[in-house]
Amino acid sequence: MSESEPVAEAMVDEFDTVAWWTASAVAELGEDHALPAACRGSGSPAGLDWLATAMGLEPGTSLLDSGAGVGGPAEYAARTYDVRPVLAEPMEGACRAARRLFDHPVVVADGLALPFGDEAFDAVWSLGVLCTIEDKQTYLEEMRRTVVPGGAVGLLVYTRAVETLPDQPEGNSFPSRIELLAALEAAGLTVLDEKPLADLASTPDDWDRAATEVEEVVERDHHGDERWQNAQAQQETIVRLIAEELVVGLLVSCRRAEPSTG
Ligand SMILES: C[S@@+](CC[C@H](N)C(=O)[O-])C[C@H]1O[C@@H](n2cnc3c(N)ncnc32)[C@H](O)[C@@H]1O
Repeated sequence: MSESEPVAEAMVDEFDTVAWWTASAVAELGEDHALPAACRGSGSPAGLDWLATAMGLEPGTSLLDSGAGVGGPAEYAARTYDVRPVLAEPMEGACRAARRLFDHPVVVADGLALPFGDEAFDAVWSLGVLCTIEDKQTYLEEMRRTVVPGGAVGLLVYTRAVETLPDQPEGNSFPSRIELLAALEAAGLTVLDEKPLADLASTPDDWDRAATEVEEVVERDHHGDERWQNAQAQQETIVRLIAEELVVGLLVSCRRAEPSTG
């Protein structure tokens, strides 16, 4: 396991402070806004469905969400597939938000040093997290360590489609698809299937509307705050990179390789 990495201030603004403000905005707008608002990092329900199905999630599966953010994807998996999620997330504000919005165990934890025993979960997933981490190898090895041998490991990774990006959100480093596949193999994860997020149905209009309403309340209350402005700039950069297809969201379904018998 490695030491925690220093976290860029703009990432703290985006993933800690604004995460907590999001939960407060949901409290004002109503519970039906919680899931769309808390799923923003992870793409569409269609993306989550593709990954859950490819991973073979089923009722009772224990699922670790590493870098769970505000907990929307874990809640979606619990509601739709009846899994038992556990959330691990380093930002305290996001953890408090997830606890306020949903009813799943949440641990303040760095994905580089997960506070769980070996083989503690049936399945592990990570959505939109890998590009925020420099030491990708250790992060993937921690996912492998905490899932049972042969267990499902799923990722949504924002990959770099060009050699050099014109701009990127502070603290992010996007792997190319080839670098990602090499890192997965080196971590002892066997890729079973992959799917670009853009090939799946986009987020339904009512989800988008609810999420936008939450963002508008956060903006109304905090637009003068430098932390909101920093988070906003981060988000605009990633949205632009994806729109220009310089960064591509890739869903990957893997299995932890069984120990060799040889
Ligand atoms: C784009 S958000 C995605 C959140 C959530 N997975 C989702 O899809 O809604 C990236 C998340 O990665 C988390 N993160 C950053 N560094 C991490 C680390 N070392 N270990 C685990 N999570 C980390 C951030 O705090 C943030 O919540």
